[in-house]
Amino acid sequence: MARFNERFLDLKESYLFSEVAKRVSVFKENNPDRDVIRLGIGDVTLPLGKSVVQAMHAAADEMGKAETFRGYGPEQGYDFLRKAVAGHYKEIGADIDEDEIFVSDGAKSDTGNITDLFSADNTVLIPDPVYPVYVDTNTMNGRNIVYMDGSAENDFLPMPDRSVHADIIYLCSPNNPTGACYNKQQLEEWVDYALENGAVILFDSAYESFISDDDLPRTIYCIEGAKKCAVEFCSLSKTAGFTGTRCGYTIVPKAIKSLSPDGREMSLNKMWNRRQTTKFNGVPYVVQRAAEAVFSPEGQKESKAMTACYMENARIISETMNELGIRYTGGVNSPYIWFECPFGMDSWTFFDHMLEKAGVVGTPGAGFGKNGDRWFRLTAFNNKENTIEAMKRFRKLFE
Ligand code: MLT
Repeated sequence: MARFNERFLDLKESYLFSEVAKRVSVFKENNPDRDVIRLGIGDVTLPLGKSVVQAMHAAADEMGKAETFRGYGPEQGYDFLRKAVAGHYKEIGADIDEDEIFVSDGAKSDTGNITDLFSADNTVLIPDPVYPVYVDTNTMNGRNIVYMDGSAENDFLPMPDRSVHADIIYLCSPNNPTGACYNKQQLEEWVDYALENGAVILFDSAYESFISDDDLPRTIYCIEGAKKCAVEFCSLSKTAGFTGTRCGYTIVPKAIKSLSPDGREMSLNKMWNRRQTTKFNGVPYVVQRAAEAVFSPEGQKESKAMTACYMENARIISETMNELGIRYTGGVNSPYIWFECPFGMDSWTFFDHMLEKAGVVGTPGAGFGKNGDRWFRLTAFNNKENTIEAMKRFRKLFE
């Protein structure tokens, strides 16, 4: 009889957003007439930009003609897109070589897939609360996880504790779920800590395009030394509405090196390339052309307009929190608003309460770790009308 990976027994029964969807669908079945507004999963609602759709059409036409048809593409991504991504990095303050860029189907897959490259006996440092993928994928591999506490006291931005050793460190900034964003000095401290420990930082920058404050870093590579210790994951999901289209990119610098037990030098970039060429056949050509268009001047204008719409929703939600005197983080430089559950409720109780009484769906903080138990996340990704209506209903909970 095949023996399954017993580590799966250590996981919660279902993935956070599957559990939320399950509860909402039970509620809808029992209350078919209730109109439910979803501010739960961070799924975008605005359509792709015009120039992006045009690029997709043109690429689809190419695929329909013998002279321009393309079969397997490079597993690392087409040169045209890697070049466009390198150009984007230049704009946000970092020099990245094209062969350090790997086009992916999104940050979620790659933050999980990267665990293939690390030995199972590494100690992994993960913030709590945090995007559940980091914890779940390392649990699947049976790695020792050490948590670092995020709380209102440290603005949900845990900093390195020199008395703790880590080999792998996950950071997400702007953070999912708390919306908190590390500044340059804080990231410098993390890079120093990683270099001191010979650790690798796995930096999730999926929400970098929501940063409006020019002083905040949009990539970890604007920090000196980061190229020796940090892998960065980014995605067009939230930046350009690609949650259903699927395209992201992972930066694996050539300077990240390690020694094998028998003293041979190993390059993380080469290992990732080896992994990808074995397990991945690349992102569809049509999607990569669409992604290339996101980085064009027109595409950038379209993405900025989308971000502005979502940030207006974030403002509406934050304003409601301010009016009601509820403690929260995020809402600026981030599409998430992370607030303390009212009425002394824990987060799943508040989830049920808000769904029942207001017909509004959010994400319970407990799904992001034990420190989220009394906190709750709303997203700014619905449309303005629904966000206004959701906040009207939210206020009524307090009457
Ligand atoms: C979220 O709601 O946390 C995100 O949509 C999840 C994701 O990007 O996978």
